Amino acid sequence: MRYQVLSVLFDGVPNPEKKLMTRDSLTLAGNKVTVPTRLNRTKSELFFHSPYQDKSCNDCHQSAMSNALQEKLPDLCYECHDDFKEEYSYLHGPVASGACLTCHHPHLAKNESLLVRTGREMCLYCHQPRDVARVEDHEGEEQTICIDCHNPHGGDDNFFL
Ligand code: HEC
Ligand code: HEC
Ligand code: HEC
Ligand code: HEC
Ligand code: HEC
Repeated sequence: MRYQVLSVLFDGVPNPEKKLMTRDSLTLAGNKVTVPTRLNRTKSELFFHSPYQDKSCNDCHQSAMSNALQEKLPDLCYECHDDFKEEYSYLHGPVASGACLTCHHPHLAKNESLLVRTGREMCLYCHQPRDVARVEDHEGEEQTICIDCHNPHGGDDNFFL
């Protein structure tokens, strides 16, 4: 984890929290989510991204004056998380293009793993049901959650099985 390193690096940058925390809701892929004005660690119905919960806003944002990010995605995420490019021979399209936020919220979510959508819906947000239905191996799996078979990020074969 390079989290510690980052915190040290950005120490001394003015804390944007005061200004930004006046917002009480954020939009998660079209769903409004109410954020407690004072982050409450015991708020059980929400899952928090730990640097957000720790109010380390500057780990990701440049300053109080803008929400601009320290780095573009996915590089920002790879400051703290293992780079999927190094982990897998084949990368899933949105992972390769840095579209992490189509599946994850950077701050908090109602679902585990900061997911903005779950189950088959998470995948059918982009993949057309009729294309999925055409695959022979999907026969009889109409109710199975896609990630029971596919890795959402990548894998060592081109279908990330
Ligand atoms: C792990 C990185 C990360 C941390 C930590 C983080 N943010 Fe963000 N934040 C993001 C990303 C990524 C976006 C989306 C930016 C985009 O869509 O261009 C965002 C967006 C925002 C936005 C705009 C969202 C909207 O709905 O308009 C605000 C305001 C914001 N962050 C405030 C904060 C505050 C306040 C904190 C600290 C309590 C914080 N962020 C901590 C990554 C982070
Ligand atoms: C400043 C460091 C930092 C950055 C930048 C960062 N993360 Fe994290 N993230 C963490 C830490 C710390 C955890 C908690 C890890 C743990 O508990 O093992 C975490 C956990 C997660 C989890 C798992 C949450 C859970 O409840 O299991 C996801 C998903 C995640 N991060 C996605 C992202 C994405 C997407 C980005 C880029 C937008 C990102 N992270 C950027 C530090 C960071
Ligand atoms: C297609 C949806 C999707 C996309 C796009 C996506 N993720 Fe995930 N991610 C998931 C799911 C689903 C999980 C939970 C996996 C599980 O429960 O086994 C997860 C879990 C994680 C975790 C928790 C630890 C782990 O490896 O399981 C991290 C960190 C993470 N994602 C980071 C990222 C980053 C960084 C990106 C962009 C480069 C990204 N994700 C793009 C769906 C996605
Ligand atoms: C943000 C849109 C998006 C989401 C959400 C998404 N995908 Fe994808 N997926 C893509 C793109 C783009 C490609 C690359 C398509 C290509 O190269 O033809 C892809 C490719 C794939 C492939 C490889 C197909 C091939 O022919 O190589 C599989 C398997 C796959 N996705 C499964 C999933 C699963 C499972 C989920 C849910 C966990 C999911 N996708 C969610 C956009 C998405
Ligand atoms: C029972 C396991 C299983 C489940 C559940 C499953 N898949 Fe698959 N999927 C497979 C296998 C196996 C292949 C590889 C087919 C091949 O080798 O041609 C595949 C192939 C694919 C492909 C590539 C198809 C192509 O030829 O372009 C996509 C995209 C895909 N799956 C998406 C999904 C999505 C989205 C879901 C959930 C709605 C899902 N899969 C659920 C096993 C599964």
